[in-house]
Amino acid sequence: MEHTFYITTPIYYVNASPHIGHAYTTIVADVLARYHRLRGFRTFFSTGTDEHGDKIVEAAQKAGVTPQAYADQISAQFRALWPELAVTNDVFVRTTDPNHVETVRRILQKVHEGGDIYFGQYEGFYCVGCERFYMEKELVGGRCPQHETVPEHRKESNYFFRMSRYQEWLIRHISEHPDFIRPERYRNEALAFLRDPLEDLCISRPKSRLTWGITLPFDENYVTYVWFDALINYVTAIGYPEGENFRTFWPVAEHLIAKDILKPHGIYWPTMLKAAGIEPYRNLNVHGYWNIDQSKMSKSLGNVIRPLDLKDKYGLDPFRYFLLRDMVFGLDSSFSEEAFIQRINSDLANDLGNLVSRTMAMAVKYAGDCVPEPVETAEEDGLLRETAALTVTEVETCFSELALHKALIAIWDFINVTNKYIVEREPWVLAKDPVNRDRLKTILYNLLEALRITAVLITPFMPGSAAKIFEQLGIADAAGQNLESLQPWGGLKAGNELKRGEPLFPRVETRAETAKPEGITVEAQPSIKPEISHEEFEKVDLRVAKVLAAERVPKSKKLLKLTVEIDGERQIVAGMGVDYSPEAIVGKTIVVVANLKPAKLMGIESRGMLLATDTSEGLTLLGFDRPPKTGAKIH
Ligand code: MSP
Repeated sequence: MEHTFYITTPIYYVNASPHIGHAYTTIVADVLARYHRLRGFRTFFSTGTDEHGDKIVEAAQKAGVTPQAYADQISAQFRALWPELAVTNDVFVRTTDPNHVETVRRILQKVHEGGDIYFGQYEGFYCVGCERFYMEKELVGGRCPQHETVPEHRKESNYFFRMSRYQEWLIRHISEHPDFIRPERYRNEALAFLRDPLEDLCISRPKSRLTWGITLPFDENYVTYVWFDALINYVTAIGYPEGENFRTFWPVAEHLIAKDILKPHGIYWPTMLKAAGIEPYRNLNVHGYWNIDQSKMSKSLGNVIRPLDLKDKYGLDPFRYFLLRDMVFGLDSSFSEEAFIQRINSDLANDLGNLVSRTMAMAVKYAGDCVPEPVETAEEDGLLRETAALTVTEVETCFSELALHKALIAIWDFINVTNKYIVEREPWVLAKDPVNRDRLKTILYNLLEALRITAVLITPFMPGSAAKIFEQLGIADAAGQNLESLQPWGGLKAGNELKRGEPLFPRVETRAETAKPEGITVEAQPSIKPEISHEEFEKVDLRVAKVLAAERVPKSKKLLKLTVEIDGERQIVAGMGVDYSPEAIVGKTIVVVANLKPAKLMGIESRGMLLATDTSEGLTLLGFDRPPKTGAKIH
């Protein structure tokens, strides 16, 4: 039987340009699609843009253009971005496409005819950011839990989808299919939603308020609610209802989303499908959120990361690698440029990049320009071969569990075993005596075969780098590049022409490395944090203080217990003990954060924090040119 695989990403709102969060989901989808193609599955991959609703109208109004013009412009940005990130989607759905409009109307008609749509009154709290109504109890302090904005109170006549009718069915379906929503934490979250009675879903908006949407097939005066419209893209993409693609791919549909849109995908969508007489999707795969340097990414914080900026600065494959390696699927992760550079330098330049250059350099030097024939397999080669076989199996398991970071860890373990194989076999020593010729050939062959296996395994993650390794190994045919060719060991053809290439991953010099004075180690400069407003800064109460007394905290090298004078005396515990003795710090006029929440350090209460900075000789306290008054405010 032919194996098939269908992967979807959310269709992204066109109210803002693409950022790293959109790139992450779409690259994960791409890695999954590429992996399945590599396994010989017939694969379909869809993405696109979500263009109707209040949110887009608001954004277009702000930009002073029509919703259509606005949608065209931002949708084009998404469409153009994906090839730049080596994303291989088969289709790009826009909800303004005529075939999608047609599909939505068809499904609405069907559900209406089935008796699951009725007319009624709605009153509730609407968050335009989420494009959904909230129940009062779902709000946090009267605000939307996602956007932290106060939702609009709305009361209007509308059409409703009888979602409540499918509540019991959905609970049963989720219970009987433990993988339907995964990882488990999100399945539990969906089941928790379903513990309360499910309300019917308001699925229309009166044209008197919103015209930017798909007109209901059974009432000209209303447009379709944007989520009802958007979710249907997943079947539009494969030609519902007649298309051959629909028959082939719908039964294996895998949706990929982040946790923000669990409810529409985990609750609305399966019940909509049930009402429309379409079988449920196979899996909903839910990942966590990227934060930036520990804070939420948002336009207002000014910390939105644009994927092309990172790609241009560090290269595409490192960017893809980092995203996949540094997020545990299902959990949140924090992006920092330092962590990214660290990964490039250690995992890519050091481990993989060096392995490729060393192996290729030795192979060309000792075996000429071709892959040598292995002659003697020694027992000591067993570990490398066994690790290769185990890695292939482990990667397969990781993919089936969506543990993509673990797949990379497994591949890197293999890379490290190969690097160790070089160190232990010392080909450069063997090369000195012709007696070792056959053994040397075998070792070189093993190294080149290990490189080929690595290249195949990294193909879904870093297709460009994999292609460069294949080129160096003289492998042009797909047969040597697919997963099936990995077992048994020995798929690399002897005689292939070897071509040395440029280093795959140049090291990234950090600012500190470039400016490093000889003999002194300077920490990498942290990048400037996201902008804050004046009001936010005003919240920090900085004061001039005088150190009245100091003593070391017992059993601590670093901590000093200080008595300082600001608005009276107070106690601060500071980590200055390596750089300042108690005697040296007493009498100093310093700067203190005076309104920091009290904390306990080694059981001692500390009320405030001293300001200091690093120098090549250690920490130094902030001071003044002219002596200020104790307690003075710093502004
Ligand atoms: N238009 C709806 C989806 C309709 S699908 C039928 C929508 N669009 S969105 O533009 O807001 O995209 C949300 C999705 O973008 C998330 O589910 C996730 O895939 C991705 N991400 C947006 N921000 C993200 C992070 N900070 N981190 C990770 N992914 C994030 O919701």
